[in-house]
Amino acid sequence: MVNNNAKNRESWGSRLGIILAVAGSAVGLGNFLRFPGLAARNGGGAFMIPYIIALLILGIPLMWIEWTIGRFGGGFGHGTAPGIFHNMWTKNRFIKYFGVIGIFGPIVILMYYTYIESWLLGYAFYSITPQYSALSTTEQVAGFFSYYLNSNARYIFFVITFVINIVIIYFGIKKGIEKFCNWAMPVLFILAIFLLIRVLTLGPLNVSNPDWTPIKGLNYLWKPDFTKLKDAKVWLDAAGQIFFTLSVGIGVILTYASYLKKQDDVILSGLTSSATNEFAEVILGGSIIIPAAFAFLGPENIVNVVNSSVFSLGFITMPMIFNNITFGNVFAFMWFILLFLAGVTSSVSLAQPAVTFLEDEFDIPKNNAVISFATITFLFCLPSVFLMNYGVVDELDFWGGTFSLVLFGCIESILFSWIFGIDRAWDEMHTGADIRLPKIYKFIIKYVTPVVLIIILGSYLFQGGINFNKGFLWFDVRQTNIYKVITLVEVPKENISAILFTRIYLLTIFVILAVMVREAWKKRRKN
Ligand code: ALA
Repeated sequence: MVNNNAKNRESWGSRLGIILAVAGSAVGLGNFLRFPGLAARNGGGAFMIPYIIALLILGIPLMWIEWTIGRFGGGFGHGTAPGIFHNMWTKNRFIKYFGVIGIFGPIVILMYYTYIESWLLGYAFYSITPQYSALSTTEQVAGFFSYYLNSNARYIFFVITFVINIVIIYFGIKKGIEKFCNWAMPVLFILAIFLLIRVLTLGPLNVSNPDWTPIKGLNYLWKPDFTKLKDAKVWLDAAGQIFFTLSVGIGVILTYASYLKKQDDVILSGLTSSATNEFAEVILGGSIIIPAAFAFLGPENIVNVVNSSVFSLGFITMPMIFNNITFGNVFAFMWFILLFLAGVTSSVSLAQPAVTFLEDEFDIPKNNAVISFATITFLFCLPSVFLMNYGVVDELDFWGGTFSLVLFGCIESILFSWIFGIDRAWDEMHTGADIRLPKIYKFIIKYVTPVVLIIILGSYLFQGGINFNKGFLWFDVRQTNIYKVITLVEVPKENISAILFTRIYLLTIFVILAVMVREAWKKRRKN
């Protein structure tokens, strides 16, 4: 189905522009906060092996798939998954509803991401105030964190952050997102390189353990540990991080790629944006927090700190370290501005699918689409702002930031290789391509990526395998993540109402989006 707007859609100003925008979507809080936290929680070196394997067999193939199907859908005037999926499998009336996940997922992530992003702006502001610089012990810094999370100032920083995001989207793909990423990405990299050099030249930070140096912290991350590879959780965490950090399986890369032209390269560009993200994650993200935290906390305490909260290293340990070095407030300011810029370049990409959906499928002019989107999403963000203490952010992160990604990645990879057909898909990928991929990737995209995704999805739904006490092939639904989430067994009693409220809220959003898809198609059939 070709959309009437196909010819009037916006396009990127330059190739570098879209690469930086996709890299901007990928480089985010995931790189500088989530990655170091997860790597430390899973024992440093033990995490990196599954992480690199997941990058090669899941992350990069899905990146290429999303660039390719996005550009394909854009040719029909569709920049979001319902329209793209429909054009990939025109005979199937239902496939467009699976595409709803690709609009729902980004909205759900946005609902908490923008709020966390706003803390960074708040912290960047406070880091240059004397009140903040005076905090020198872990207790004082942790006290400030909880003071901030209960203060009225957080509302102000949230509104400012939200407005910044909306203004960028309001200016559109080329004049808004591309222009912003064109300067924000280089600034972000320069800040990260400065901080990296400062951290690696710090020397020992813990007086009682002078042999805990930042360089030893690098060793902690990079020394392979094969013993943990038997643990399925390390693999699930690594695969989940690859999805989150590359922004694949969310539904945003395809929207960005839908603004490409038919002959624009997708293979080299997709690879370049993935490489940029990985440089930011493992080289910069991994070499700032981990070495600094290692030098201060040591190998055991670092795990205890991240187990208490994945944010502790970024919001407590790092500020603590900066507050105890010369010009620490300058470094703290750089750290929080770096994180804030990384956050904004990602959150604008999370907002774009819903705006594109309104423009493409309902012919709503961009300005009106952005204003309607802003009004509704502002309300959507409020549960995170007001009910965070009741576990709402974790709930949103599970459905929007974890489960939807794997489910959506699974659907798009099967659709691409098996329904659209791998030969046609391979030709579509190579249209206008600057490089040809080795044939092995045809095999990986057709078999390995979907099978691994089905296994990961299966492990959310069933826990099974060989257990000598329980039988050769045993399946125990009660052990799975999803069972525990659905039955609320691990939710403290006082949080149950807030969690149920969030679920009804999410279900309503999903149903409304599905109804909108139905109406859009009905309307188009009539025309
Ligand atoms: N890819 C984005 C991040 O890493 C969502 O934060």
